[in-house]
Amino acid sequence: MQQKINDLLRRVEEFAPQAAAEIEEFRIKMMGKKGEVTALMEEFKGVAPELKREYGQRINALKQATLAKINALKEEWAAKAEPDVKIEDMSRPGTAEQLGSRHPISIVKNEIIDIFARLGYTVAEGPEIEDDRHVFSSLNFPPEHPARDMQDTFFIEKMSNEPHVDDILLRTHTSSIQVRTMETQKPPIRVICPGRVFRNEAISYRAHCIFHQIEGLYIDRNVSFADLKQSLLYFAKELFGEKTQIRMRPSYFPFTEPSAEVDVSCNLCGGKGCPVCKGTGWLEILGCGMVDPNVLTANGIDPNEYSGFAFGMGVERIAMLKFGVKDLRLYFENDVRFLHQFDSVL
Ligand code: PHE
Repeated sequence: MQQKINDLLRRVEEFAPQAAAEIEEFRIKMMGKKGEVTALMEEFKGVAPELKREYGQRINALKQATLAKINALKEEWAAKAEPDVKIEDMSRPGTAEQLGSRHPISIVKNEIIDIFARLGYTVAEGPEIEDDRHVFSSLNFPPEHPARDMQDTFFIEKMSNEPHVDDILLRTHTSSIQVRTMETQKPPIRVICPGRVFRNEAISYRAHCIFHQIEGLYIDRNVSFADLKQSLLYFAKELFGEKTQIRMRPSYFPFTEPSAEVDVSCNLCGGKGCPVCKGTGWLEILGCGMVDPNVLTANGIDPNEYSGFAFGMGVERIAMLKFGVKDLRLYFENDVRFLHQFDSVL
């Protein structure tokens, strides 16, 4: 019996399969119902009682060694196994991968961010659910001030009996990110703030209750209106082409003084007048101005030492002008026939 055990141990040790299938064959040959190791266990029943302990241990060791070897070989072969590919018909057309593409809003958003990145701006982000302080109070909207009605707000929760104080709402502009930046950073500040904003407006071909904005903020010593104008001219030329002109019209925002609205020359008619620019030759694209000293003070920045400018634009509107999209609702319907038209723009 000892001879048999040694014999089997040697065979287990020396077993070196040429193919994965041989491993299972070997297992059956050894450990199967009629296997050689199994037979040895049968034989063990007839061993003299005083030898049982010793042989029992040896047979067990053989069993363990056999199983360990088989498992190790199986793992080794599974790792190097080639996938079992059967090519039945080489002429059959392959299954095409459906490639997605970027949404036009993302395309334009990224382009705008890239342009400002070249001027040294970094991207800042913030929450869509905001409080009154970040959206209004810190931006020089006093409570009950009519300027609050410029942006129809979706209110979520009222946290105080005082009007507006601590209200929770959906941000109506990404200026809230600018406030958050001023709270946490010291000048010089140069950030661009992209994000989704919400206003309680009736949905039509030119307005939606959800849209995307990109706002910018630049604060440093000696920042002037000339810097603002030059930065926006550079931006307009990069986005709409070298020949693009801008003009500024006086406007009002609570958080900037002076404030302006910026138009770019219509790139469809070259300024002569067409239906898109409604015959004026100009297209309105953004609001801007010098940051109001009240806003700087409210956010812990000394207006005697620092000045700055801010600007904000709607991404949907710019994408409409760039791609000639006539209905803003198309951006939100996600009809692939519409989206596929932008496959090659990237
Ligand atoms: N926050 C303004 C809006 O949403 C846009 C803006 C930003 C205007 C910065 C001026 C300066 O209407």
